[in-house]
Amino acid sequence: MKARIATLPGDGIGPEVTGAARLVLETIAKLRQHEFSFEEHLIGGCSINSQGVAISNDTLEACRAADAVLLGAVGGPQWDDPDAKVRPEQGLLAIRKGMGLFANLRPACPHPELLESSPLKSERLEGVDLLVVRELTGGIYFGEPRLSDTIDGCRRALDTMVYWDYEVERIVNLACQLATERRGKVTSVDKANILEPSRLWRQVATRVGRIHPEICFEHQLVDAAAMRLITQPAAFDVIVTSNMFGDILTDEASVLTGSLGNLPSASLGEGGPGLYEPVHGSAPDITGQGIANPIGAILSAAMLLRHSLGMEEEAQDVEAAVDKTLIDGCRTADLSDDNTLSTEEITDAILERLEDQCVS
Ligand code: IPM
Ligand code: MG
Repeated sequence: MKARIATLPGDGIGPEVTGAARLVLETIAKLRQHEFSFEEHLIGGCSINSQGVAISNDTLEACRAADAVLLGAVGGPQWDDPDAKVRPEQGLLAIRKGMGLFANLRPACPHPELLESSPLKSERLEGVDLLVVRELTGGIYFGEPRLSDTIDGCRRALDTMVYWDYEVERIVNLACQLATERRGKVTSVDKANILEPSRLWRQVATRVGRIHPEICFEHQLVDAAAMRLITQPAAFDVIVTSNMFGDILTDEASVLTGSLGNLPSASLGEGGPGLYEPVHGSAPDITGQGIANPIGAILSAAMLLRHSLGMEEEAQDVEAAVDKTLIDGCRTADLSDDNTLSTEEITDAILERLEDQCVS
């Protein structure tokens, strides 16, 4: 099969980890007789530096025309001025909205070999395997009006939280579908005791839950859910929530696994190309040192194979190769203090296992 993959390496360690993920995709293509072509584009700070915008219309068009998009990370201290008119993060929001990527899938499943890296006691992590389905194109991230002004000498700033019923419906529906292939449980997280959009969210979610009687459907307030993620993380299967709550809870969930660098994500729309990126950021402190952990990006490439190219077997090949690499004790600097491997070395270790597996 042929596939066109747009890569947006972005800033910081983005180019290092997407480079590794691309090698994995090229290898799986060679081993399984596919033809993948790659075209690279700018996003984030590097795009601001060279074109004055965090993402250009041409890049957006190219991403829409591709079969899938692989992204690295955006941002860095050079672009951190909060008063700046153009910010790297705008590139992310523009591509999410511009490609209609309303669903952000963030799995968090602690690797059995890495339980010690988690700040939680190992026994609390037993059976933890959760998937956060975060609404990605609505809510307070995109609501209008947004402004800051001065009234009678006092400054104020505001954003608006808006949800439409159809936005809630499609994301909760997707969460239910994904849960049927897992343990069949969905926790819808909101703040319905306070927020109007959360009350709508709860009503619509309840209705959608009833359409899926096979699903064990529950509601939870976001503050309680934040606590339960630490006290009883194994109680969750699929969590579905709004853009802002999902942003916060996915950072929290990632800490459970003890390995932010290992976590992938997929952002999906209605049928078009999906976007795949590691959950970690641009890590300016280690940029250019060749020590970044590429596993989050490589597992994102596995999600790309699965969700955008329909290549379930190939996705599992990549996941199994990563698994084997970790079982064999290979670690990057974020996961261990001694005998650590560079980005290139651990990528080679993964490629080697991938070849062994596919050939044998
Ligand atoms: C994320 C990030 C982004 C978000 C930022 C960088 C815009 O935190 O993908 O979780 O808030 O969505
Ligand atoms: Mg975030």
